[in-house]
Amino acid sequence: MPKKIRLGILGGGGDSLIGVLHRVASHINDNYQITGAVFNPDFESNMAFAKEIDVPLNRIYKDFDTLIEEELKLPKDERIQVCSILTPNFLHYPMAKKLLDNGFHVICEKPMTTSLDEAKDLQKSHEKAGTVFALTHTYTGYPMVRQMREMIKAGALGKIHKVDAVYYQGWINTIIHDKEKRSSVWRLDPKKAGISSCMGDIGVHAFNLVEYTTGLKVNELLCDFNYLYEDNKMDVDGTVLIRMSDHVKGVIRGSQVATGEENGLAIAIY
Ligand SMILES: NC(=O)c1ccc[n+]([C@@H]2O[C@H](COP(=O)([O-])OP(=O)(O)OC[C@H]3O[C@@H](n4cnc5c(N)ncnc54)[C@H](O)[C@@H]3O)[C@@H](O)[C@H]2O)c1
Repeated sequence: MPKKIRLGILGGGGDSLIGVLHRVASHINDNYQITGAVFNPDFESNMAFAKEIDVPLNRIYKDFDTLIEEELKLPKDERIQVCSILTPNFLHYPMAKKLLDNGFHVICEKPMTTSLDEAKDLQKSHEKAGTVFALTHTYTGYPMVRQMREMIKAGALGKIHKVDAVYYQGWINTIIHDKEKRSSVWRLDPKKAGISSCMGDIGVHAFNLVEYTTGLKVNELLCDFNYLYEDNKMDVDGTVLIRMSDHVKGVIRGSQVATGEENGLAIAIY
């Protein structure tokens, strides 16, 4: 039986939202082994969580730089082969870049980077590295999404005239209206989340699906964002008019203040 792929995890600790989903997904086909990690910036929590989920403690590192340094000392057939980056957004770019530059494969959570310049630079590192860079735009894996893409490709809809993608959540209502609470969440902190909350967090999925299902490219945008409060620097709701290739027009709508919505993602292609 071939050896399992040696997977490293960055972020995704016991306190995180997405960590468990990556761990479960990596085991669905039983071909990954979590070999090392920095689950948490706090070393004690890091070790405690590793114990809880049974990851070898000698491969739990105090920080990302130490993980790279120590893993590179190991023979290639023992070393972590691919790392998943499941940290808050601002760490995606520096972590992905250093991993690629040191010959690792990368599975990176969205948003890929927090600026276009970073994205362009990462692309260069990727081209040079020749390893895999996978961005987890999760929804492209859903059978219905694949079905849409195949039907559109086969011409079942004929010429596309309009697209409408919506991703609505309401969770930020419990935080955004309280000044203290809204200053304590990383998704509302530009230093940690980057330039956007709503569009960077969930609008990117809708955007990705519009391009993925139609096979067309978004060429132009017109955005109207809502921040709700003067001191809040991050969009929590927005509407984006889009112009795509082949003269297709449409709209992407995103919200984190849509009361009652949990994870309301829908895409319509006409
Ligand atoms: N693809 C999807 O559908 C999807 C869904 C949810 C979240 N995400 C993305 O996943 C990422 C994490 O989101 P989340 O909701 O799990 O966040 P979270 O705050 O729940 O968890 C973040 C984790 O990163 C750890 N961490 C923070 N700084 C670290 C560091 N320097 N080194 C190592 N670990 C560190 C924290 O301890 C925590 O375990 C975000 O970029 C988010 O956009 C993607």
